[in-house]
Amino acid sequence: MPQPTKHVVVKGERFRVHLSRDELRLRVAELGQQITRDYAGKKPIFIGVLNGAIMFMSDLLRAVDLDCEIDFIKLSSYGAEKVSSGNVTKLKGIDADLKDRHVIFVEDIVDTGLSMQFLMDLVQESNPASVAVATLLHKHEATRVPLTLDYVGYRIPNQFVIGYGLDWGQIGRNLPELYILDEPGKN
Ligand code: IMP
Repeated sequence: MPQPTKHVVVKGERFRVHLSRDELRLRVAELGQQITRDYAGKKPIFIGVLNGAIMFMSDLLRAVDLDCEIDFIKLSSYGAEKVSSGNVTKLKGIDADLKDRHVIFVEDIVDTGLSMQFLMDLVQESNPASVAVATLLHKHEATRVPLTLDYVGYRIPNQFVIGYGLDWGQIGRNLPELYILDEPGKN
């Protein structure tokens, strides 16, 4: 029997499940296997973009069968809004020396693409051997800048999502599924 769609209400707004735990688990494992093949014989450094990438990063790393290192960077976030302010600032920098390293940025979602463009510009100053991006989600209709996204879990519509690390005003990160805003007439 089909299960009824699960909903949550966060800050008075209703969200419904868009990706289940099983879908996320399988797709993230596939990305980990792909990275393992692509980086065979190399020791990449994964840079997680805080806070949203925490769940994706921890599941992805467990699916990567390589010697690797990790570090984190924190950028300004949406705060309590559902749309990007367009201003990206660095709140916590990268500690590791990235010179001659194979860098893989790990993002929860690429939306306008401005955060990723900011990271790309920043990392070039460190002269890495290579730079790649792994993002769980891509709101491709919203992306305003040209970017190469090497590993994309899912392309999603231009609608607000929470769960699996993603928040709305810091709420919702601990939901194990990915939820999308229920907008009558849109989905
Ligand atoms: P961008 O700079 O517009 O690409 O936005 C990237 C950041 O915005 C992500 O790392 C998230 O923190 C946040 N973000 C974008 N879309 C959403 C969403 O639908 N839900 C929650 N956070 C989002």
